[in-house]
Amino acid sequence: MRLRFLITAGPTREPIDPVRFISNPASGRMGFALAQAAMTAGHTVRLVTGPTCVEPPEATELVQVTTAAEMRDAVLSRLPDSDALIMAAAVADYRPKAFSQKKLKKTAALFVLPLERTADILSECALTKGSRVHVGFAAETENVIDNARAKLEAKGLDIIVANDLTIPGAGFQSETNQATLLWHDGRIEALPLMTKADLATHIVNAVVDRYDT
Ligand code: CTP
Repeated sequence: MRLRFLITAGPTREPIDPVRFISNPASGRMGFALAQAAMTAGHTVRLVTGPTCVEPPEATELVQVTTAAEMRDAVLSRLPDSDALIMAAAVADYRPKAFSQKKLKKTAALFVLPLERTADILSECALTKGSRVHVGFAAETENVIDNARAKLEAKGLDIIVANDLTIPGAGFQSETNQATLLWHDGRIEALPLMTKADLATHIVNAVVDRYDT
């Protein structure tokens, strides 16, 4: 079956002033591997990516965004005609409350920057989910499975991919990943360390299985 995938990848950047931003070290590799795996399996892929140095794969549509707000808009506008959403992006949870048009000068020894929450994209998408398959990622440093299960419930997901960032070769920047998949029905599958390409194929197959049932 040919599904319409909507996949996010990479970090977001939240600007402080014209020369500074808040971000994270996500490379986009996991999301790009998912896009590649879905394309190879014959599905259509709309890939929404934050800024990254890694070359994105061929996709049906490539959408480049910078901030969490732009990623939210790009995802929400493409959601109604998607069969599966995979949020592999490391979306910033906070952004500077105000953007300074002028470069901030260093004056005081202590600088406090007020931050405000960004929208939780997956939670917003859950409001119109229907039969669409939703997959999220949980990058954790402790209580990995419990935290992932809580996110699965809170964000109304079908599947969550839990990553233990303390394991060498898992998570940010790496070419490999070690993940545990948790399903909404309670199923759990601990996978060995593998390339992000192999993990991506596994996740795409899990999405297709879920869509079929
Ligand atoms: N996510 C999202 N919108 C956000 C933040 C995260 O849609 N504003 C998605 C991510 O793409 C990921 C999942 O939610 O698929 C979990 O992201 P994570 O950062 O692990 O969890 P948070 O909900 O941000 O919780 P916390 O940072 O407290 O662990």
